[in-house]
Amino acid sequence: MAYKIAVIPGDGTGPEVIREGLKVLNAVSHVYGIKFDFHTYDFGGERYLKTGKIIDAEEIEELKQYDAIYLGAIGHPDVKPGILEKGLLLRIRFDLDQYINLRPVKLYPGVETPIKEKTPEHIDFVVIRENTGGIYTGHGGATRVGTPDEVTTQVMVYDRKTVDRCLKYAFELKKRRNQISASYAAKPLHLVHKRNVLTYAGDLWFRAFEEMGQKSYPDIPRDYLHVDATTMWFVKNPEWFDVIVTENLFGDIITDLGAMIQGGMGIAAGGNINPEGVSMFEPIGGSAPKYTGKNVINPLAAIEAARMMIDELGEHKAADAIQKAVATTCTRLKSLSAGKMGYSTTEVGDMVASLIS
Ligand code: IPM
Ligand code: MN
Repeated sequence: MAYKIAVIPGDGTGPEVIREGLKVLNAVSHVYGIKFDFHTYDFGGERYLKTGKIIDAEEIEELKQYDAIYLGAIGHPDVKPGILEKGLLLRIRFDLDQYINLRPVKLYPGVETPIKEKTPEHIDFVVIRENTGGIYTGHGGATRVGTPDEVTTQVMVYDRKTVDRCLKYAFELKKRRNQISASYAAKPLHLVHKRNVLTYAGDLWFRAFEEMGQKSYPDIPRDYLHVDATTMWFVKNPEWFDVIVTENLFGDIITDLGAMIQGGMGIAAGGNINPEGVSMFEPIGGSAPKYTGKNVINPLAAIEAARMMIDELGEHKAADAIQKAVATTCTRLKSLSAGKMGYSTTEVGDMVASLIS
């Protein structure tokens, strides 16, 4: 049986990095006897500029037929910000109910972190960003636009069920990680919010967290942090963290910081996960128009996204093989930044593919 994968290379450097990800998946396919059936879609800025179409309901339904979706990048310099992001990326996340955004923050050996004196053992955690609620639901409005009396609202919407299903995923992941290593088990599950100010939304998350923890996961220690303080601890004491769960916008913000402390966007990947449906995996760096077509962008983030994808599909051994190959590659690159790697995009892809064993 072959895994059916929808491939959306998208805009900018998306196609370049996805090509390398597919190269690595093909290597994995040879070594591990896993079959993939890739089908490529041209969703993105170019198609939108040519046809005015982003993605329609039929195409969304089609995506639901796959085992997973592999996405490069969305965002085009000639398209007004928000159109493709909302119309494509957020549309897929919402319509496919990918309610978990899983973003690992892991410093590989040999990778430079801007945080002095921190080594791989200090930076190895995952952020679970709720991915279908909050401010991203688009509730709100504006009146008297453009006048001195303009007023806007942008509402952070959460219902108990949306919060509970996200928390359940977090507790379950924490339970699994605690079994993997004693150092993970020594750390609590962190809830991140801003309940000192967002008293309604923060209170819902906090109560749900406490109730679920006490009732169903009494052996898992819990801790709560405000989001502003969290950014401080990411820099000062990243070793405190193992699994963090948070709402959508806070998760968006802290995972950019997370990407930087693990060595930058060149290696940061994420999964938009629907545990009961179709999930989508992507490098989180964006379309990087200024590097497009230069063969200088780092494909490791896209390769990491491919690793997360096959891990989610249940191919754990093959996923571990990719992780090992990425780790070795990291020790050989001069830097993870575009243009400074000491190798081209294709050479890095070749290197990882040749290290798959
Ligand atoms: C991300 C991105 C998106 C988000 C944008 C492009 C809509 O920043 O995946 O983190 O805000 O979720
Ligand atoms: Mn973001």
